[in-house]
Amino acid sequence: MTVTRREAFSVSALAGVGIAAARALPATAATGKTTAAGGLTSPHASTLSTNERRPQEDLPVSVRPASTPFSVTNESLPFDFSGEMQVKEGVFPADMTGHLFLVGAAPRGRKNASIFTGDARITRIDFSPTRASLTTRRLRTPCSFVDDILSERGRNGFLAFQNYGFARMSFAFGTRYFGNTAPVPLPGGGLLLGYDGCTPMVIDPLTLDVDTYMGRLGTDWKTGWPRVDALAMLFPELPEFFRGLNIDAGQLLKFAPFPLITTTAHPAVDMQSGEVFVPNFNADDTRIVRWSRSGLKSVRLIDQETRMPALIKFSCHQVCLSRNHVVLADCAFVTEQRQMMIDSSYIENQPDYVDLHIVRRDAVESASDGGDVPSIRVRITAAEAVHFLMDYEEKDGLLSFTIPHTAGSDASERILPSDRIAKETSRVASAYPFPQGRIGDGPLSYMQGYFTSSVCGGFVGRYVVDPHAGKIVEERRSSPEDAKLLWTLPFVTFAHSEKTTGPSVRHLFFNQTGFAREALPQRVYDAYEKRARLPDAEIPASLVRFDTHLMRVTDAYLFAPGEQAGSPTFVPRAGHGDNSGDLDGYIVALVFTDGGTSGKANDSFWIFDAADLKKGPICKLVHAAFNTVYTMHSAWAPDLKPLPADAPRVSAEEHFGLDNQRYDWIPPIILPVREILEEAYARFNEFRSRSV
Ligand SMILES: [Fe+2]
Repeated sequence: MTVTRREAFSVSALAGVGIAAARALPATAATGKTTAAGGLTSPHASTLSTNERRPQEDLPVSVRPASTPFSVTNESLPFDFSGEMQVKEGVFPADMTGHLFLVGAAPRGRKNASIFTGDARITRIDFSPTRASLTTRRLRTPCSFVDDILSERGRNGFLAFQNYGFARMSFAFGTRYFGNTAPVPLPGGGLLLGYDGCTPMVIDPLTLDVDTYMGRLGTDWKTGWPRVDALAMLFPELPEFFRGLNIDAGQLLKFAPFPLITTTAHPAVDMQSGEVFVPNFNADDTRIVRWSRSGLKSVRLIDQETRMPALIKFSCHQVCLSRNHVVLADCAFVTEQRQMMIDSSYIENQPDYVDLHIVRRDAVESASDGGDVPSIRVRITAAEAVHFLMDYEEKDGLLSFTIPHTAGSDASERILPSDRIAKETSRVASAYPFPQGRIGDGPLSYMQGYFTSSVCGGFVGRYVVDPHAGKIVEERRSSPEDAKLLWTLPFVTFAHSEKTTGPSVRHLFFNQTGFAREALPQRVYDAYEKRARLPDAEIPASLVRFDTHLMRVTDAYLFAPGEQAGSPTFVPRAGHGDNSGDLDGYIVALVFTDGGTSGKANDSFWIFDAADLKKGPICKLVHAAFNTVYTMHSAWAPDLKPLPADAPRVSAEEHFGLDNQRYDWIPPIILPVREILEEAYARFNEFRSRSV
């Protein structure tokens, strides 16, 4: 059935057509202009009231300077509120169940900020047969109160918290703990929040406050960053001969109250045992921290080939599990320390490969805390990637990976006010005039901080790896015909399973941001020029379903200009059990639409039938006050259970070592660090006592 629909929709035919194809769709599919009274029928129809107040998302095209909606960087939302969502269009399906979690970054000041930098804003939607309830909270940690106090006192030097690209740091206090990137439900209850620059935190899914931290920084985690060549960082034009002063810049923050921990936004969770695996790496080595009911264990990886500590050179944005192995990916997200500290326009090319570090889980199990475990490195040379997926079940001892390759893209680059749009994109057909001048000076200034586009189409790879031999034994790639529907693949979802970790399912769903000229600065184009294959016309954002058996896009919904989906989430139908069908549910996506600076609600949740995306949304949900930040990953959980009472818990004071004297190096006359910390913890504990 799926293939038939795909043929009717002719996704592959659209692949070379771009934006014109979106307009060739039937009006209901291309624009979603279906009304509650307009004929959408559902056997599960319920009675949510229709929102009388129509959000301003239908601005005329002429108001928009480009196809990317204003709303990706425009937000107006109280930090904490709850309310009922209203049906704006379509019919709310009464068989939606469980809870959807979405996180994003609420920036503190736009200066030098990426849309990925800021306090975690957590959104939860609770589904029931008759309603969808919305709750949002800002995650509060002790460092967020320090940030408040420094702002109140007007401190803005390098000792105060400042945005440095993807991080917010203070050379007195350390790094902000954001937890703003990925929610990961735990099988026994509780919700992990991951961020690449701090340890994961477990929050109570009901209160959305931190329930426990993981271990103690002083003893369980190593601080630091991958090593950088300090001379090359300071003087990039310096000849190779004079380079070689390698430092771990993260150690500068080692003695801060909130030291930098380089880890992952996506810890791996075993849905059967409840174990959580988290990388912890710096310039010297790479560790896996395993957190379980029995406590915390840290083991060091020794590369079997070199007999030396395994090193993460770039970043480790994701960790995955199979039944017998845990795999860390060294992936294409370079933390460019020169760009963060010295020159925001500086750019380093991403590696065009992914290194997988594979470790046997029984080796982690048998090793002592602090001990060594062997690892084997396998390089995927097809193209770069930021995320990867792994089948939980191994077949004949082989490991199966699915990798959405973000070919020719640089997720670590954000659009700067000084950027100009790549002149080469003037040849790409668009409904909008080619933007001139610096982005920060004109109508495209709302793009500042947004991530940049790929210079070529992407693809999905499936790899079967022999973990003993350290070799790829089978490799398949998606068809080049699908490249334009896989141009940029930020986030993925698939049918939830309580039995397995990882997609032992056939169908994956991606939001795809398409190709918009305003998202490709000259600076980024020049860095990746050799690989550039720009499309003939702009490519609309889309929601696509990818079949990992056929290795094809089999269904897609193309958004109109001015619309773009954030992370999609698979919500199973009520009563259909665990993983009974990986198309038997709904895809819910937050869609950013126009609304601009009106301050009125313009972000809405669109609900699609997972088996028929091309039909368009069957329902759109809105809330008058909901105009949120750009969101990152999302997740679904069947219930709101907290972490079990007997799970190990560590308080903020224990985790950060408040009684440790290590941060007394700054004289109080310069910055009263201790006094500020004590006030911050007092505010934090008052907040905790109010929220309990
Ligand atoms: Fe991610």
